[in-house]
Amino acid sequence: MANEKDAHACTLDKIISLCKRRGFVYQASEIYGGMAGAWDYGPLGVEFKRNIQNEWWHYMTQLHDDVVGLDSAIFQHHTTWEASGHVGHFSDPMVDCCECKARFRADTLIEDYCENHNAKTDKPVDTMSHEEMKAFIDANINCPTCGKHSWTDVREFNLMFKTYQGPVATESSLVYLRPETCQGIFTDFKSIVQSNRMKVPFGVAQVGKSFRNEIIFKNFIFRTCEFEQMEMEYFCKPGTEDETFDRWRKDRWQFYLKYGIKEENLKWHHHDKLAHYAKDAYDITYNFPIGFEEIEGIHSRTDFDLSQHMKYSKKDMSYIDQDDGNKKYIPYVIETSAGLNRNFLMFLCEAYEEQNVGTDGAEDYRTVLHLDPRLAPITVAVLPLMKKDGMAEKAKEIQQELKEDFVTDYDQSGTVGKRYRRQDEVGTPFCVTIDPGTLDSSSPEYNTVTLRFRDSMEQVRVPIAELTARIHQEIKNYTRK
Ligand code: GAP
Repeated sequence: MANEKDAHACTLDKIISLCKRRGFVYQASEIYGGMAGAWDYGPLGVEFKRNIQNEWWHYMTQLHDDVVGLDSAIFQHHTTWEASGHVGHFSDPMVDCCECKARFRADTLIEDYCENHNAKTDKPVDTMSHEEMKAFIDANINCPTCGKHSWTDVREFNLMFKTYQGPVATESSLVYLRPETCQGIFTDFKSIVQSNRMKVPFGVAQVGKSFRNEIIFKNFIFRTCEFEQMEMEYFCKPGTEDETFDRWRKDRWQFYLKYGIKEENLKWHHHDKLAHYAKDAYDITYNFPIGFEEIEGIHSRTDFDLSQHMKYSKKDMSYIDQDDGNKKYIPYVIETSAGLNRNFLMFLCEAYEEQNVGTDGAEDYRTVLHLDPRLAPITVAVLPLMKKDGMAEKAKEIQQELKEDFVTDYDQSGTVGKRYRRQDEVGTPFCVTIDPGTLDSSSPEYNTVTLRFRDSMEQVRVPIAELTARIHQEIKNYTRK
């Protein structure tokens, strides 16, 4: 039986329920029964997701003089994907049940079986050949859908979505939805160097949608067909890639600490089996309620991408290093590739707490999201203590001023305690309360309001004239206790 502490622990089901109830994330096409693996971001979700993206952008471009931005097209020339290796190599191993025709990812089928049956494979699943996977499945696993035991060979299934541009669907009008954002950075490399007089080493950051024909959806927004990536490709001189790799590994780790992820909830995963382009690769994994899972990959991509685009386009992608005797070379690349949607889920899980705030031994639990104020979907909620005696009007007036600087909310319904709880549950770091003292010219509290802090629940009295500056200062100095 779950003990008291477990009953109030964060679970994925609680996060999903909060997301739906409070307008963070809804099932896409829900009125038609839903669309597998597709999710819509509601009014609070879209603010929260945009804040994560903006903070990543601020951190990567504004705080790094050597990183610039790009927003390349989702559709790229189809040769891009031949050059990148995605047409030939971007696939997962699949196996079909011959009886019921259900299709499974072979590696996941084996991993799930081992987890549920306390079984082990002879070597890590991601290093097994097709034949080894097939042999293990044949020897051990019944179809999870129909229970029968008759499997096809393990085959590769390409993950790219295809469509056709223009009115006629022919081989030459074939286009792909991009499976990663970074290829636009590689194909634009020369233009960026020339137009912005960039000198190696430098990086290019990009945020945008990517698409993969995943056949397994589980764990909410963790793995979907349509998702957003926050990627940065850092171009460096050959021979400096190992130190650059270490630099970005440390840097990206720090990013997560800066925005409130506890270090004990992060773990490195070193890749045993490397992607076709990689020399070395690590994932940053986060301790989700479902266990440690990848949120970001850091990859040492060598000169693979630029060399391939040079080969396929016949355009010179080399760089002339004026700081090194005009030496000509193809830069090496270190990539940092984070999932925005997985960051969204991670920050929610990290922030979630069911906290006993009862006094004198009584139990009284509030649900609170301890989000960094820079990420919270609403920064300030303005609450008149009562609707009467001009308090509502004054609250609206104060909110109007705060709107210039912050995302605000206004709430006048229910007791103020209930309203605080509603804001705590969506992570609003500051509540401003207008009470009779605010409007009473004979009171020492005249023209002041109560500023209430989400985490500590402390309240201080602040002059209205100083409110904006005070909130800015609190955001700047915030650390989660
Ligand atoms: N350009 C390199 C690249 O795309 P990746 O490891 O395949 O590398 C990077 O993807 C990140 O993108 C992952 O760490 C994950 O956060 C996110 N991601 C990948 N596939 C995803 C999916 N199907 N759904 C949600 N996020 C995904």
